[in-house]
This record gives sequence, structure tokens and C-alpha cells, in this order.
Amino acid sequence: MVAVEAKGICKSFPGVKALDGVSLTIDKGEVHAIVGENGAGKSTLMKILGGLYDMDSGKLLIDGKQREFKSISDSLAAGISVIYQELNLMPALTVAENIFVSDLPGTAGTVNYRELNRRTKELIDSMGLDIKPTSPVDLLSVSERQMVEILKALSHNSEIIIMDEPTAALNNREVDTLYEIIRKLKADGKTILYISHRLREVFDLCDRATVLRDGQYIGTKAISDIDERQLVEMMVGRDISQLYKYTEHALGEKLFEVEGLTKKGVFSNISFSLRAGEVVGIAGLMGCGREEIAQSIYGILHHNSGTIKIDGQEVSIKRPVDAINNGIGFVTEDRKDSGIFALMTVRENLTINVLRLISKFRIISDKKEQKLLEEYTKGMNMKYSDEMQRIMFLSGGNQQKFVLARAMATGCKVLILCEPTRGIDVGAKAEIYQLLSGLSEKGYAVLVLSSELPEIMSICYRTLVIFQGEITGNILRDEMDENLIMRCATGNETFFSKGAAI
Ligand SMILES: Nc1ncnc2c1ncn2[C@@H]1O[C@H](COP(=O)(O)OP(=O)(O)OP(=O)(O)O)[C@@H](O)[C@H]1O
Ligand SMILES: [Mg+2]
Repeated sequence: MVAVEAKGICKSFPGVKALDGVSLTIDKGEVHAIVGENGAGKSTLMKILGGLYDMDSGKLLIDGKQREFKSISDSLAAGISVIYQELNLMPALTVAENIFVSDLPGTAGTVNYRELNRRTKELIDSMGLDIKPTSPVDLLSVSERQMVEILKALSHNSEIIIMDEPTAALNNREVDTLYEIIRKLKADGKTILYISHRLREVFDLCDRATVLRDGQYIGTKAISDIDERQLVEMMVGRDISQLYKYTEHALGEKLFEVEGLTKKGVFSNISFSLRAGEVVGIAGLMGCGREEIAQSIYGILHHNSGTIKIDGQEVSIKRPVDAINNGIGFVTEDRKDSGIFALMTVRENLTINVLRLISKFRIISDKKEQKLLEEYTKGMNMKYSDEMQRIMFLSGGNQQKFVLARAMATGCKVLILCEPTRGIDVGAKAEIYQLLSGLSEKGYAVLVLSSELPEIMSICYRTLVIFQGEITGNILRDEMDENLIMRCATGNETFFSKGAAI
């Protein structure tokens, strides 16, 4: 039985053909992956299925019936719900209100809150989660918000559930929960469309995978007939042997030092240093305190004690601007909330932190701004139609590249990157790794917080592991392995490589 059939779907935006005659078939009851590089058209296709966008031409059949959705509710009524890549929750409302926003229980304009919270609690419990129905969403972490988004989609009990990068903001334990949810849904006969840049998930969860590239349909394969290398080759359209490889280079002097950094109840006595040219990872489970350590260094959070030194000189960092002035660049993990200025152009997004460098008497030099854009976007293979395009219209991965480029454009020497390749495709990931490697060869010191261990293992010279706000591991590249990092991250072991300065 076929659940979804798309025939020759086309969709253009000014300057880009996002979908160019895409045809595909999704069987009832399967978990079907849609994969492809950033900007391939995955989210656009899902937005058409979700009733958010009209298609320019083509046909869509749901359960054999031809449909054209004019609104989200049309698509919901046809049994489709979508978890969008960009979170769409209303921050001031509670978890329960967000989940049931289109279907609040009650009569004559009054909401029955007791019933609302009861239903929500039931849904949360059935998924084995620990979130309060009455919490306002803006008090939740990014990953909890993602789980709320997932619950919202599940609350409709739809037959077809579309998940557009649902794990991009989840920690490992939540990813496991999502795996269970997906398996349960599949056992109930639901059909799932699953988009992810993490191919491991595609191989763990999915029955078949469809590849899109530059808006075109490339092919569909049964997961059992294909390996990761072949899938990547379909996605990027070239042999992947040229993807990123770590290269050794000599390290310079100590460039950046943290001594005894403490924030009561969050992390304590954190001391480490980075040498010029060194790429150091910070691994640890969600809640271990690593984000807070990074945010304290950058002046987003206050710390109670400890010192930060650059080139051996103590510096005082109270706000992000102090960090920027001392040559520290920062990339946030929360792209949508604090990473991009959605309504501004791609060029403004790149140069916002450095306006003083490119302006005179408060007038921004158009030429200098353009030059900076070209300098930093060159080599990152960013896709945008022109520099005046609003950044919100770029694909997720391309937005992320801008956030990275912006940090570099501040002319910093120390770069702190939180989840730098979240939502970035395999090819672009390799490009970003190459770029970081190039920066480290030039003498930048780079601190990478990542929940993807394969990422840390492929790019870092050394890894610090944090458990409950303390350093439990300092592991050199030769000794790094995923199990060792996990043992330190769970507090079951401490490991300090011999001869490695922290
Ligand atoms: N609303 C829009 N306005 C203009 N261009 C858009 C809009 N939405 C998408 N695009 C463009 O269409 C193309 C496909 O984007 P889409 O978001 O579907 O990619 P994607 O495959 O989901 O990528 P990613 O993996 O980065 O999320 C991109 O070039 C993107 O910039
Ligand atoms: Mg997308």
C-alpha cells in the first residue's frame, strides 16, 4: 500500500528552483528517510506536504487520493503532521498550550485547563519524558523544546508523521527516547518520513532512503541494500574519498588559559589551556555544564571565580563585547534564537559584529562590507541567491555556515564553537572541518563543544571530558576512543593522557 505519492513536484523561489520535478513513493508503515545536502529541497518538499507551501506544479496523492493542500489544517485533516526543522513554539505559552494550541479542550471560549494539563501529562508520560505540562516554553532547554515539538505532532494521532531533523537539538538520551517513539509508531502501522544529516540514524531507523540533490530526485534505495559510503556518494554526487582527513601540524605557545573557573552549582575549578593551532574538543552529556563553561568564558553567563588569560595576560570578560574585543569568537548552539538575525540580509548577518571595522563616522562602507562577505564566504561553498537575501530563507545548513563565518569575521584568535555542524550535511561538514583545520594551521586556537563523538574524534587534537561540572578526562588524539570518552562522561572513569598539558 502506498501512503504518499508525489509526481513531478516543482517549486521555485526567486532565484532558485528548490524542487525540480520530484517524484517519489512512500509505502504505508515504513520509516522512509529523505536525505541530501543542505539546500537539496528536503524541507521544501515537507512544507508542501504539510500545507505550508503551494507547489508550482505536480501532483500529490495521499492514500491514492489526489490532494492539494491550501493550509496546515488541510494537511492535518488528511492525516499528516509535521515536526518542522525550525522550532515553531510560542515561548510565552505553556507546554500544554503549545501542544494542543489548535485543539484546546473547553467550551464557549473558555479553556478547561485541568483537562488540558491532564491530556498533556498523559502524552508526556506515554513517551516516558520528564517535562511539566505547565512550564512556559521559554524556560525549557532547546532539547526539551524539540521534544515538545515532537509531542505536538504526535498529539494529532496522524497516520503520516514527518520529522525534519528531529534530533538536531537532542542529547543522546533523548535521541534514544525518539528511537523508541519511532519504533512504537511503526509498530502501530504509522508511516514516517525522516530527515536527518546523521546517517547513523538513517541506518538505525529507516527501511528505505530517498536522495534529493539540488532539487532533483536522485533515487530510492532499501537501507539493507546500501552502505553509508554509497548513500553519501548519491547525496554529494562525487567520490567521497576526498572528504576530510586530519593532518598533524606543530602547535605554538599557550594562547588561551582558564584557571579555576567556577560557577556555583554548575561547574567548579575548571582549568585548561589552548595552544595556538590547537583544536580541543569538550565532550560530556547534556547537563554536564559544558555549555555554561563556554558561555561564561564568552561573558553570556557570569561566573563566581576564576581567571581567563589571553597571551598570558589576564582579561576581564563581563559581557560578550569584552570577549570579542579580546579576540574570542563564539558560535552558539541555538541558531534560531540567538544565532541569526532572521529578518536581516545575509550580508548584514555576517558583518553585524564588526560594523566598527567597516564604517567611518557611523557610515558603513558598502565596498568593505561586500569584501568581507566575499572573503569569508569563499571556500565555504555557501548557497544564497544574492547578498541582500534575508537569511531566514536560506536552508538550515547554509544559515549555520553564516553563523560560523560571522564569528571568524570578528578577527578573533580563539574560537569557541558550540555544536558547529548541527544540521550541516556530510559534504559541508567536511568543508567546515577543512576550514577549521586551515584556521588551526594559521594559529587559531579552537574549542569545539560537540555531542557528536565522531565529530570530536575526527577534528580534535585533544579532548576534555566534563562530568557534573568537573573535568574527568584530558585525552590526546592517539588515545581517544568513543568508549573511553563515554566512560569519563558518565563519571565511571577519569583519564588524563600522560604528558598532555591540560
Ligand atoms: N521561503 C523561501 N524563500 C526563498 N528561498 C527558499 C525558501 N525556502 C527555501 N528556499 C531555498 O530553496 C532551496 C531548498 O531549501 P530547503 O530548505 O528545502 O533545503 P534542505 O534540503 O531542507 O536543506 P537543509 O539540509 O540545509 O535543511 C535552498 O536553496 C533555499 O535557500
Ligand atoms: Mg531543511
